[in-house]
Amino acid sequence: MQKVLVARSIFPDVIDRLKQYFDVEWNNGDALGADELARRLADKDGALTAGDPIGAATLAAAPRLRVVANMAVGYNNFDMAAFNAANVLGTNTPDVLNETTADFGWALMMATARRIAESEHFLRAGKWEKWSHDAFLGADVYGSTLGIVGMGRIGQAIARRAQGFGMRVVYHNRSRVAPAIEAELNAEYRTKEALLREADHVVLVLPYTAENHHTIGAAELKLMKPSATLTNIARGGIVDDAALAEALREHRIAAAGLDVFEGEPKVHPALLTVPNVVLTPHIASASEATRRAMANLAADNLIAGLGEGPRAGRPPNAINPDVIGKARS
Ligand code: 8YV
Repeated sequence: MQKVLVARSIFPDVIDRLKQYFDVEWNNGDALGADELARRLADKDGALTAGDPIGAATLAAAPRLRVVANMAVGYNNFDMAAFNAANVLGTNTPDVLNETTADFGWALMMATARRIAESEHFLRAGKWEKWSHDAFLGADVYGSTLGIVGMGRIGQAIARRAQGFGMRVVYHNRSRVAPAIEAELNAEYRTKEALLREADHVVLVLPYTAENHHTIGAAELKLMKPSATLTNIARGGIVDDAALAEALREHRIAAAGLDVFEGEPKVHPALLTVPNVVLTPHIASASEATRRAMANLAADNLIAGLGEGPRAGRPPNAINPDVIGKARS
């Protein structure tokens, strides 16, 4: 039987599914450090990860490893050049989380615009003594302009919801989406700079890559309206968190909603001290049904990638399908 490592705590019934095909080692605990992960992968044929960094050194220490299935759509934790050089297949879990993540983007954007977290803290602290006409005045969402940076599947699901809110939608993406999709979403393409100047609410939904590092930094924040909000449900590192904390403290933008952070689970200490930011611990895809779907899809990919089950050799979400069938190097 081939051996696999499940590197994270995950639904036990998914472990049971994997046990039908593999000898499973399960780290049902905290994320493993790089050395411990490499040590445990040394004799494994496959692995199921969730954001765990896998690079050339880890692959070199795991000569049998042929498939790593990430339980996430984003796979910036994989060094794909190293995967390709070693003929190791990487897989991810797209699509099953689109709607749940789009819902959360809206929830976070609305909580940010309408100051829900800040006002709840005020109430819980026992500070609510009287109604006041100017308490916690926020920014309207209905009828405003939504700026979406990253018009992939999740960005499009966010745009679709904007129609019910009577919003104008502008977007920026590496490349323009097809005219039919622009028409269906009623979305107009803008350069990043034009979008930042124009949008009342900016939502980030782009993948993390070297070029996207600090896509929103001090210079970009300066372009935004002082009344605007910024929501990041994409990846830490896309926003310069230190620059954002400063812009929030100086009210150069109104508020921010962040589900992802540079160096998470650590959060930049300055963000913890500004009131006009809503902070959540990377939960945009966290509905019961969606996390189950992601875990099962990651398992499907691992099973098929290692040549087992009904889709043997044809994993549904191969990131680098060219390595399928090639000997490990
Ligand atoms: C994951 C995510 O839960 O899919 C992604 O890219 O950010 C989340 O849905 C998280 O990355 C853990 O792997």
